[in-house]
Amino acid sequence: MIEKTIITTVYEYNSVAELEKEDQELVKKAKEITHNSYAPYSHFHVGAALILENGKIITGTNQENAAYPSGLCAERVAIFWANSQYPDIAVKTIAIAVKTNTGFLKSPAPPCGSCRQVLLETETRFKTPIKIILAGNEKIQLIKNAKSLLPINFDENFLKKA
Ligand code: THU
Repeated sequence: MIEKTIITTVYEYNSVAELEKEDQELVKKAKEITHNSYAPYSHFHVGAALILENGKIITGTNQENAAYPSGLCAERVAIFWANSQYPDIAVKTIAIAVKTNTGFLKSPAPPCGSCRQVLLETETRFKTPIKIILAGNEKIQLIKNAKSLLPINFDENFLKKA
């Protein structure tokens, strides 16, 4: 038996002012766009703002549905929209913020497994790390690439015939 340890590095900040200017702007946009979230069932309004390598900023929000599994998370709405409009441009950074009935979360919510899988595929596809910023009001977490959030992952290599 071999024991393997996987280390994930997360950078934590107390204030958005500690981030780079571009990242501050993305957090601002992720927060603003939560307003457009359609979350009548969970009341968990998620906003995502990403910037592409060409400087274009794209936002997305979670879109729920009475048939629950038909809805989609904010991160995937933003990434799929970005990849549809700009199929040749890498995603550089994505910021995520959540607003509930009591305001923005103090501690940030990390992306779900499916969003991590999509972030990873996008990162691999464009061969460029995607910086992920999880923005809470009292704590901000920064992860330098999607692989760190999904260290043991499924990818295209498993689809190749042996
Ligand atoms: N949600 C996201 O938008 N992103 C995530 O990564 C986690 C969950 C949404 C889906 C659903 O509309 C609501 O939050 C509650 O799960």
